[in-house]
Amino acid sequence: MSEHSPGHRVRIGLLGCGTVGQAFIAMLHEHGPTIARASGHELEIGRVLVRSIETPRAGVRPEQLTTNPDDVFGDSELDLIVEVMGGIDPTADYLRRALASGIPVVSANKQLLSRQAPELLALAQDADTQVRFEASVCGAIPVIKVLRESLLAAEISAVTGIVNGTTNYILTEMSRTGMSYEDALATAQALGYAEADPSEDVGGADAAAKMAILASIAFHTNVRFDDVPYEGIDRLSAEDIELAGDLGYTIKLLGVAKLTDGGVSVRVHPALIPHEHRLAAVSGPDNAVLLESVAVRQIMLVGPGAGGTETASAVLADVLSILGTPNRGFLQNALTDAGRPLRDPDLTSSAFYVRLRVSDRPGVLAQIASVFAEAEISIGSVIQQGEGDAARLVLVTHETQERRMNTAISAIRDVTDVRGEPVVVRVLTKENA
Ligand code: NAP
Ligand code: HSE
Repeated sequence: MSEHSPGHRVRIGLLGCGTVGQAFIAMLHEHGPTIARASGHELEIGRVLVRSIETPRAGVRPEQLTTNPDDVFGDSELDLIVEVMGGIDPTADYLRRALASGIPVVSANKQLLSRQAPELLALAQDADTQVRFEASVCGAIPVIKVLRESLLAAEISAVTGIVNGTTNYILTEMSRTGMSYEDALATAQALGYAEADPSEDVGGADAAAKMAILASIAFHTNVRFDDVPYEGIDRLSAEDIELAGDLGYTIKLLGVAKLTDGGVSVRVHPALIPHEHRLAAVSGPDNAVLLESVAVRQIMLVGPGAGGTETASAVLADVLSILGTPNRGFLQNALTDAGRPLRDPDLTSSAFYVRLRVSDRPGVLAQIASVFAEAEISIGSVIQQGEGDAARLVLVTHETQERRMNTAISAIRDVTDVRGEPVVVRVLTKENA
């Protein structure tokens, strides 16, 4: 894109016009004069790519809508592409097409960026243009800009975050109002927080994609979606949320990225967080990212993690950043230059909450205790409650390696008095927080 003089019109080709796309258009209409005054640019929407042109979209004339990407890319006045359609195919082709012809791109697509960011950044670099993706992580929170620019030289050592709004909303509502999992998910979908396929949210893939992006930037190392082991909240029950509360914890879906011994480890899983921990207070669709480094100690960014307007705000910020830093801007190479090794997730450590249903017979507790002892796992507390001919056992262990816990859980599954599948959730302690 050529440099824009103040007052220059900037024509945006929009790929996708759903929750985020429509909120972006509404924002341009509502705040156009302010944007023009502050930035010197008048932003206008050109062609808009959708799947169905039959559905009317507020603020979009019918002749702007198209199902043919050639109409978007063939616009002779096209300055910039905003991609809010999601998915990997054919979206990746569209972004490559824009970048290869020197058109800058703003994308909210974490699944695509977490798989192809290095290639897209290299393409942008070669074509002397930019790809920005603030909206792909944590909605309205400017965490990518902070990591890439403000904290570039801060040597971040850990990024711990609640990075999915849908699951945080579900867990909050289940614990606050006793709402069922199904109702809370349906409400999160109705409010526009969830992905088109909500199993991405509840199964942990959305958070894993975001943690791959954050870890890549924080540690200057290429971490891809496939490098991030993840678990979702879909195996948790209201019973676990209540028990955790009784034990002094709140359950959150947590992303944990760390530099250990010069290597990078990244994972996503539910975790019991002590009530007094700063992340425990982050509720509803809000997200939070705790950034740690020797230089800056701790910085926590908190704010809306999902929703149309919230995400559109980050998209607009990226558009303005591109206009403020013409051509390739700066930092295009900064994402992955350190090339740190990825650590084996099985060697990371945690404390664990383990809930079991067992036959209420003498000796069962001793059997379970001996399995943990054999795996060299020390138990911090045990609660046993009778339920007819069965009993509920809840154990909280001291910190131990993942591989030891995996060994213990395999052995526990083979104990004949254990009924059903053990529920295992990591616990954030002072040591691993
Ligand atoms: P959405 O409501 O499902 O909208 C997707 C839009 O893209 C729709 O207009 C759809 O067209 C269009 N589209 C999808 N596939 C297409 C294809 N193959 N060809 C042409 N058009 C296509 O999704 P959204 O919630 O706005 O999310 C969009 C992106 O933003 C996703 O990458 C998502 O992960 C990301 N994001 C969303 C949020 C949020 O809170 N919603 C927050 C951060 C990031 P039709 O309307 O005709 O179906
Ligand atoms: N579905 C995502 C979430 C949208 O709930 O966090 C924001 O990326």
